[in-house]
Parts: sequence; C-alpha cells; structure tokens
Amino acid sequence: MNRPARPGAEAAVRAAVPDVETLAQRLQEIDYLADDGLATALYLGLALPQPLLLEGEAGVGKTEAAKALAEVLGTPLIRLQCYEGIDAAEALYEWSYPRQLLRIRLAEASGDASLGEADLFSDEYLVRRPLLQAIEHPGPLPAVLLIDELDRADDDFEAFLLELLAEASITIPELGTVRATHPPAVILTSNRTRDLHDALKRRCLYHWIDYPDPAREIEIVRRRVPDAAQCLAIDVTAAVARLRAAELQKPPGVAEAIDWVSALRLLGVERLDAPGAARTLGAVLKFREDEQLVRERGLAWLVGDA
Ligand SMILES: Nc1ncnc2c1ncn2[C@@H]1O[C@H](COP(=O)(O)OP(=O)(O)OP(=O)(O)O)[C@@H](O)[C@H]1O
Ligand SMILES: [Mg+2]
Repeated sequence: MNRPARPGAEAAVRAAVPDVETLAQRLQEIDYLADDGLATALYLGLALPQPLLLEGEAGVGKTEAAKALAEVLGTPLIRLQCYEGIDAAEALYEWSYPRQLLRIRLAEASGDASLGEADLFSDEYLVRRPLLQAIEHPGPLPAVLLIDELDRADDDFEAFLLELLAEASITIPELGTVRATHPPAVILTSNRTRDLHDALKRRCLYHWIDYPDPAREIEIVRRRVPDAAQCLAIDVTAAVARLRAAELQKPPGVAEAIDWVSALRLLGVERLDAPGAARTLGAVLKFREDEQLVRERGLAWLVGDA
C-alpha cells in the first residue's frame, strides 16, 4: 500500500512532525503515553506513508492512538467502524434516494420536464461515507482514517479496502474519479477474532500494542484521573498486573485500570484494600467466572496482602 508520492503532502508532514521524539512528546502533551515502539510505528506510518495495523488486547489504546494522532495533527479523525456485513455503500458513498425522490416530485409538481439523470446523480445527492471523506480531505496535513476492528468485517470487504487504499482514489461512475491530494494517515485495528489476509498485512506496517509497563500505566492512570491519589494509582496498577497474569476470560486493559481508580476515588478509597476491592470488582472484571475465580483465589492476593 505504498501510495504514489505526493511531495507537498509529505513536506507538510515532515514540517509538523519531524521525528519520533517530537511525535512522542506531542502525544504526551495531550495525555496519550506511547512507548518508543508505538511512537516509532505511528511516526513511520505517517511519514512513509504506509497504513499501520495495530493489534493488541482489548483496552490497550488502539483506538485512542488514532484519536491522539489526529489531535496532534489538528486534522479530523475519520472513523470507519467495521462490522459483519459492512459494504461499500456504508464505507464509501451512497446516493440519497429520499432526496432524489423529493427532487423528482418537486419537478413533477412544477411541471418541469427538464430534470435528467445528471441532475439527480450530482454532488448535491451524494452522501459521503468515511472513505470518501478521507480521500477528499484537502490537507495540508493528512486526516487520520481509522478503520476500526477490521476483523469484524467480511473477507471481500477487506479485499475491496485493500484496492482502495493502494489507489487512494475512488471512481464514482456518475461523477468521475476522486483522487486524494493529501492521502489520509491510515490506522487499522484488529482484535484478532479472525486472521487478516496476508495481502493486507504485507502492505501495512504492523505493531502489537502490549500492556504498558507499570511505571507508564501509573502515569496514564494519573493523567486520566488527575485527582486520584498516587498511591491508589500504584496499588491498582499492581492489582491489575496480577489479574493479567491470572487465567481470566477477559483480562483488564488500561481502560479498566482507569475505570477502577475512578470508582475507588469516588468512594473515597485511598489505598486498595480487600474491602475496597470487594465493592468495586465490577469496574475491572466483566465476567462472572472471572469474579468467582478472583474471590476464590482471595482478595488478599489481589491487593497484595497475601
Ligand atoms: N497509552 C495510553 N495513554 C493514555 N491513555 C491510554 C493509553 N492506552 C489506553 N489509554 C486509555 O484507555 C482507554 C481505552 O483505550 P482504547 O479504547 O483505545 O482501547 P482499544 O485497544 O481500542 O480497546 P478495544 O479493543 O476494546 O477497542 C482510552 O480511552 C484511554 O483513556
Ligand atoms: Mg478500540
């Protein structure tokens, strides 16, 4: 998916984000903490440019990475949420049938016989979906196109997407070809409910987002729940790490660590102890089986008192 070079667009990117360190710094300023691996992947995807495929457990910040990148660039985040059965009409464009019909009715009512097909299939009746919006983005910096949870879409949608991203252009039979002057920075995410095709993977940069190390996770939690006590952030991060090492159906992500600290703070808990954990397990465990497993193992183990 190395797209045709567009020197103006690339120069604008290089001026705004000259290197990995600058990108990491800008992300940090808006409270997204990327380690060097992720910051490098985001930088390369943007600067090469090449689509970036992000995988990782739930709640490790895949979607948020795309949001943060758009915020850093100051350009729109255009999001295509994939689901089973998604098709080109949902992803690309559609004609607004109700509005076309209205136009026909108005023409009939006013006795206007000149209304032709070209009038009805004009820009006015085109409904722009995310991929077209992204290709039409005028620059100077690229919009961020987030193709979220691609593994939920069907195979043929993936093939269609591949072609479109390679070309960075869309042909609308009635209107002609729309070619991107400033191709979007593309971030694809997958939760690995199925394997994506090799053809797609081959054309993307790939990065697996791991759980953050404890120091980084404490910092993320502190930034997202600024009025929580530091020791609470430390306690919760340690407990969450224990949960991730246990055999849970749904190990907690960063999102759950943040939610858990928020819940504890609201209840006035300053240190994570067994009673506090018992009251708030629902913020961090989302399966009954997981909750049972943890209660059997003991809340003392969870909070580090064992
Ligand atoms: N590196 C990070 N820096 C700051 N906040 C983070 C980071 N990683 C995750 N978060 C927080 O965790 C929350 C969840 O992240 P996000 O929704 O992006 O996860 P995800 O990987 O897309 O999960 P899912 O697979 O469930 O869609 C975000 O709203 C954000 O607050
Ligand atoms: Mg997500």
